Amino acid sequence: MGKILVTGGTGYIGSHTAVRLIEAGHEVVIFDNLSNSDIGVLDGIKQITGVMPQFIKGDITSSGDLDSLFETCSDIVAVIHFAALKAVGESVEQPLLYYRNNVGGMINLLEACGRHSVSQFVFSSSCTVYGQPDVLPVHEGCAIRPESPYGYTKRISEEILRHAVEAQPGFRAVSLRYFNPIGAHPSACIGELPRGVPNNLLPFITQTAIGLRHELKVFGRDYNTPDGTCVRDYIDVNDLADAHVKALAYLSDNNSLPYDVFNLGTGTGLSVLQVIGAFQKATSQPLNYSFAPRRAGDVEQVWADATKANSTLGWYAVTSVYDTVKSAWEWEKNYRSRNNKF
Ligand code: NAD
Ligand code: WQD
Repeated sequence: MGKILVTGGTGYIGSHTAVRLIEAGHEVVIFDNLSNSDIGVLDGIKQITGVMPQFIKGDITSSGDLDSLFETCSDIVAVIHFAALKAVGESVEQPLLYYRNNVGGMINLLEACGRHSVSQFVFSSSCTVYGQPDVLPVHEGCAIRPESPYGYTKRISEEILRHAVEAQPGFRAVSLRYFNPIGAHPSACIGELPRGVPNNLLPFITQTAIGLRHELKVFGRDYNTPDGTCVRDYIDVNDLADAHVKALAYLSDNNSLPYDVFNLGTGTGLSVLQVIGAFQKATSQPLNYSFAPRRAGDVEQVWADATKANSTLGWYAVTSVYDTVKSAWEWEKNYRSRNNKF
């Protein structure tokens, strides 16, 4: 079948996708500079699948690293490109770092694909490209107006990819716009591993429940939403991983469009208070939280119209929010007890 290159494959979504790819019978090569992940993730993937994926350490911003990767693995047939920096606030402080890494890295990788005759490409985009949409649920045809340098790197990378497809007959690609990925593998062998104080809601919840943080601050209770807190579309990371296997099948189908874009979400919005409630119910854990002012830059509400991914890729989100938050909690407990990191 040929190998699938997973850039950023030791990261959160990449590692869960590597598991699903291996389970689907694909051979996986992970390429990562370990700037935001741990090499130990490979052991977690092996524990789940029985297969230790091939790993090559390197940086997508280095054409030399990419050429030696493709020379070492000459049978790569498709790339799933996760490697990127992803912290919105950091991107405001260091925009050039984000453009160099995410946009520069994307260009390098596409050039390397051209040099080494790789013709299928899946790109990790984000719902952040929509900003605050006028229409809910937001669909792929809605206006694109990101609000941060990070969001612009996704918007620009999508455009670069579309132009690369248009310019190169036989080259095919999809951009997948993830909504809010949460949860961990049900084995608790891999999961989200934020460095330092988490920005995202679920890791902050699990770290608070385990006693690493004193309390969760709920940012804003005066939004124009049913309970006053922000609404998002939280998607299970394993469901998200499945979509990448479907996307590869789509790219191998000659009747599919050479370039396409898909929202990946559940189609349901949940408020911050609903997520807290689901966590408490699913885990029977109390959670210390209080209300705080709005966080700068937060959109009020966004959730996905994922009917295009449903009908075209045959992909559906199937995991309940209870199972998802429970998996995040099991992962938190397992990771802390194994590493003695409290
Ligand atoms: P992550 O940080 O856990 O994983 C990204 C991986 O890429 C890390 O292992 C990091 O070490 C690696 N990396 C970064 N820059 C690199 C470089 N120059 N060369 C090689 N490796 C590099 O992030 P994630 O949550 O798994 O996100 C994966 C992708 O999905 C990213 O592109 C992100 O922007 C996108 N995305 C994430 C979310 C989310 O909420 N997690 C939502 C939408 C989109
Ligand atoms: C969710 C909700 C917060 C932490 C970010 C990126 C986006 C995408 C997904 C990559 C919001 C509230 C959070 C806390 C809280 N990533 N919250 N207390 O902001 O929707 O999206 O991750 O592409 O680009 O911006 O996700 O998990 O940070 O926040 O009340 O301590 O939880 O205000 O309403 P967000 P999040």
